[in-house]
Amino acid sequence: MSRVSTADLDRLLASARAARARAYAPYSQYHVGAALLTRGGGVYTGCNVENASYGATVCAERNAIGAMVAAGDCDPVACVVVTSGPRAGSPCGICRQVLSEFARDMKIILVAEDAGGRVTSRSTQSLAALLPMAFRLKQPARHAPPGGTPRQ
Ligand code: THU
Repeated sequence: MSRVSTADLDRLLASARAARARAYAPYSQYHVGAALLTRGGGVYTGCNVENASYGATVCAERNAIGAMVAAGDCDPVACVVVTSGPRAGSPCGICRQVLSEFARDMKIILVAEDAGGRVTSRSTQSLAALLPMAFRLKQPARHAPPGGTPRQ
C-alpha cells in the first residue's frame, strides 16, 4: 500500500467532510462523505444519495468512484469515509467490491464525528483486509483515461 502523507490525509478529511455536508439522506438521516486520493494526486468526493425506492440508494464511496472515473482519473490509493459517531461506519460489501475494481489495495480511513464536528473515532484499514478474495471476472482490458495512466 502506498504511503499517504499527513497533508494528503488532512486534505481528504476536509473534502470528505464537505461532501458529507451535502449528503441526501432524508430516509436514514445517516450522512456519509467519502474522498478518494489517486496516485496522481487527484481528490474525488461523493456523498450518499438516497431514494424513495430504497434499493436505488447509492453510497458515498461509490459516488466518489464515479466522480474519479468521470474525471478520467484512476489508481485510487486512499479513501477517507466520514460518518456520524460514536463509531465510524465501515464500507458496505458492494462498496468494497466497487473500490477493489480500481485498486487491489488502498488505505481506507474511517472517521466518525459528533454533531459538533469533533472526531470521535478514527481507524485505518486496508481494502485487502476488508475484502479478501474480491471477485474478479478476468483481467479487465487496459483502461487509459484521457491524460491518465493506464491501469495495470
Ligand atoms: N451508506 C454509505 O454511504 N456507505 C456505506 O458504505 C454504507 C451505507 C449509506 C447508504 C444509506 O444512504 C445510508 O448510509 C444508510 O444505510
